[in-house]
Amino acid sequence: MMKLTIDGKAVEARAGETVLEAALRAGIYIPNLCYHPDIPPIGACRLCVVEIDGVRGVPASCTTLARDGMVVRTDTGRLRELRKNILWLIFSGYPGAPERASQLEKVADWVGAKDLLPGFVRKAGGTPAAVEEPFIIRDLDKCILCGRCVRMCRDVRKTGAIGLINRGVKAVIGTGGGKPLKDAGCKFCLACVEVCPSGALRDRTGFEEKDREKELLPCSSTCPAGIDIPRYVRLIAEGRYQDALEVIREKVPFPLALGYACNHACEEVCRRGRLNAPMSVKALKRFVAERDSGRWRSKLAIAPDTGRKAAVVGSGPAGLTAAWYLRLAGHAVTVFEALSEPGGMMRSAIPAYRLPRNILKKEISEIERIGVRIETGARVESLDGLFDKGFDAVFVATGAPAGSKMGVPGEDDPRVLDGINFLQAVSFGHKTDIRGEVLVVGGGNVAMDVARTALRSGAGKVTVLYRRTRGEMPALREEVDEAVKEGVKFSFLTAPERIVQAGKKLNVECVRMELGEPDASGRRRPVPVKGGNTFIKADRVITAIGQVPAVPAGFALATDNKSRVVADAATTACARKGVFAGGDAVSGPASIIEAIQAGRKAASAMDRYLGGTGVIDREFVAPEAAGGCIMREEGFCGRERAAIPELPVSKRRGNFDMVECAYQEKDALREAGRCLRCELRLKISKAPEPPSSGKK
Ligand code: FES
Repeated sequence: MMKLTIDGKAVEARAGETVLEAALRAGIYIPNLCYHPDIPPIGACRLCVVEIDGVRGVPASCTTLARDGMVVRTDTGRLRELRKNILWLIFSGYPGAPERASQLEKVADWVGAKDLLPGFVRKAGGTPAAVEEPFIIRDLDKCILCGRCVRMCRDVRKTGAIGLINRGVKAVIGTGGGKPLKDAGCKFCLACVEVCPSGALRDRTGFEEKDREKELLPCSSTCPAGIDIPRYVRLIAEGRYQDALEVIREKVPFPLALGYACNHACEEVCRRGRLNAPMSVKALKRFVAERDSGRWRSKLAIAPDTGRKAAVVGSGPAGLTAAWYLRLAGHAVTVFEALSEPGGMMRSAIPAYRLPRNILKKEISEIERIGVRIETGARVESLDGLFDKGFDAVFVATGAPAGSKMGVPGEDDPRVLDGINFLQAVSFGHKTDIRGEVLVVGGGNVAMDVARTALRSGAGKVTVLYRRTRGEMPALREEVDEAVKEGVKFSFLTAPERIVQAGKKLNVECVRMELGEPDASGRRRPVPVKGGNTFIKADRVITAIGQVPAVPAGFALATDNKSRVVADAATTACARKGVFAGGDAVSGPASIIEAIQAGRKAASAMDRYLGGTGVIDREFVAPEAAGGCIMREEGFCGRERAAIPELPVSKRRGNFDMVECAYQEKDALREAGRCLRCELRLKISKAPEPPSSGKK
């Protein structure tokens, strides 16, 4: 450490540190603009000038190395005058007042430039129009030529998409030949925006600071379990498949099942989608999960036995996830499952062509391998019985297995089936007697599963009746597309009103709908059209219009008007001591990943209740040193999403073979390489700003 004096204060500096860095670290602010802690300094703006004993002139502190015994002054009358003049020069070419809340505005405020030179700003007008690019606005008239964006792009990211064009007064920051950024090698990491101090480069969509992560890193912010998606995608791109898998396993015990059947909300918000197509996150997860070497097992530390016992009622994703983490915390865990096999909706409702049974079995066997006991065919009717058996805490994760009724006359006919019951019957190999023309009522993912399963189970023709239009269907677009490919027909703006017997068939009277004003869900409300009733003949009608929980009355738990168990949102704790509840039983029907997160939350709260710390996450892969170099790749922006191979439609009838196939390695590598690396922007250091706004 070197010792120097800055403004009369003894300051220590590390080897290689500049005077500016030593001062900032010691809490002494020196105005600066072209300096940024993550970028090599160039001493261009000269705002950071200082006086140093024995040194002629006023050197820039951002490029002057600290030396032992240096005596530095940062705030003399001469320096203050100089800085005001520098800012006057900067603003003489700036269109109007500085961009609000920009570093430039704060520095100008601190230096006191506004008071001294009230007429320094030239009026806006006649200035070049700002250019709209994907994600950003380039407003070159506000550029102060500090060069931070160029140095970040060229020296740190090494993409070199932008540079200093022209010389002297004509100098601007731009792309070669004035090309749009996407054609100039830009990879839209947006580091340039992050380091721009003047507002010349700014986000097209503004956001509040509290929403920063959600806006800039939407994929992992959207993932209910908070899986570090950018990290594992990058690790795949680097060929580090086991590391990638372990990053996923740090948050969930079902990487394979998710790789096959996650609803991938992360893809809906992926920023790459705004360029051409979102990252294929689910398929990449499957790619690494299928290459699991089991290395992570050697890193899995199970805490010593605590002597406490936890019961989990229900073996769906919520229950099994809670069981996994509770066991890792050292508790003895027993899972009670009413059906003959564990897995909950993953086993009974998701068709095998989306989630093969051996895949699920494999992951559940890992949960049993660490000592979780699963009792199948064990319906629990009373929680008292569990406490009597010596369990200290109970997690209720019984799902939402009861299909909602349509509430129309005739739906009690035995040929009108409940969608969830139908899927379960097919899943467990029970007879379903599906034949002829089948009508499926509903527009969600369950309706698509039912329709496609019916086609595979003997139906001659399947028509989905949905009361809105395709645009409002809650089902995933790809599920609807696949249903269409497989031959499922759709009758939109159609709602059953009555079902009557017509010989051996059913006659379904349907009312025509039209779309009215948006309802609470944000979708336009279906409104009946008078006199527009139609009749559709069918052999079977299968309803898939929603599910509700069916918690046994013997549990004596409070439920709401939708039969959902009432539990604390943060801890999953119920009013009854020692009882926790989560998953579909509390939320109503939700996705696998949402259920997994509910299980994680419950495990943490239950561990605390049982005397533990509540910390459930494990680190499998040590954090890497921050890098930031992404290199230039021609054609990066236009690179298409790698198509996911599929079983040909002609081979799908009459079987439940997996429809989506896995990526080949070359496709996975290519796909992982499409990531915009949005996370890098969040790792950029904050530029040093005046300690608080207001004049010095
Ligand atoms: Fe040091 Fe610009 S010259 S911050």
